[in-house]
Amino acid sequence: MTAKQFMPAEIEDAQAMSASEAIEYHYDNDTRFFSLWLDPTLSYSSARWRDPLAIENAEPDLTAAQLNKLTFHLDAARIPKGGSLLDIGCGWGAILKAAVTERGAARALGLTLSRDQLDHITAGGWPGAEAKLQDVYEFDTDERFDAAISIGAFEHFARPEMDRPEKLQRYRAFFDKLHTLTTPGARFSLQTIVWDALTFDEAKKWIPQTVFPQSDIPFIEEVIEGANGAFRVIYLENDPTQYADTLDAWVKTLKTHKATILAEWGEEKYTFFERYLRNSKLAFQRRKNSLARFVMVRR
Ligand SMILES: C[S@@+](CC[C@H](N)C(=O)[O-])C[C@H]1O[C@@H](n2cnc3c(N)ncnc32)[C@H](O)[C@@H]1O
Repeated sequence: MTAKQFMPAEIEDAQAMSASEAIEYHYDNDTRFFSLWLDPTLSYSSARWRDPLAIENAEPDLTAAQLNKLTFHLDAARIPKGGSLLDIGCGWGAILKAAVTERGAARALGLTLSRDQLDHITAGGWPGAEAKLQDVYEFDTDERFDAAISIGAFEHFARPEMDRPEKLQRYRAFFDKLHTLTTPGARFSLQTIVWDALTFDEAKKWIPQTVFPQSDIPFIEEVIEGANGAFRVIYLENDPTQYADTLDAWVKTLKTHKATILAEWGEEKYTFFERYLRNSKLAFQRRKNSLARFVMVRR
């Protein structure tokens, strides 16, 4: 099957957006724009609407589902009282803030590639929380962390041109780095979008149609193989409805702020984000993508 055959019509439209424009839209956007349509914690990743094993326990709205997601990861990470947490791809710092203000962490360090996010965290002034503008692959320190969390960053680690051995090597390098940065027995709670009902070759053809054409996302088995030897996987959930519902909530809120966004940021930006959120939702509904949460223990 070719990429075109399984491509929804709306995704064909989104191809008009070039790779560099897509990057620009995502990394040079200001915090105020995102605060219009994200939840109050500014979580820019899938919420946790339900426990996939429970029959009836859906969260009532995005705000509750995002808080439930933060609780899931902080519980899973088990930061010891007075201990330290590393958050790889910390966004606007919701995990860092909760770790030091609610979970007894003495220190929470976040890594991000976004200056807007760094400035937001610095302005927050949460005692013990700090962010660095730093690529995790280049991060070097003598510090050893008692726990680690990464939500929505793993999707950016591999490049589209990588074949499977290169992709696995890239993921292994990440887990080896994290092994060095953490103490024995440290928990790592990882959330990432994964490819689902596609073969490796089909996924490669799908990448140009996604919103980050400069990165490739993992298959579940690639994450497990990458972690093998450095971390032991003790829990996994795999549920595309979690992200489909999050994207649905985001697009609804974005639409309610259409007039403001058009006036302040212009039509091109509004159209890009509306299409991107809608198309991404379709990819989860059609199971091209799924949302995986892994809990691991450092060997
Ligand atoms: C989709 S956002 C998710 C942010 C946050 N974890 C959340 O859930 O709201 C992805 C984050 O990963 C960061 N990121 C991506 N690649 C990274 C890398 N190689 N090293 C460090 N941070 C990275 C981005 O700067 C951004 O903060």
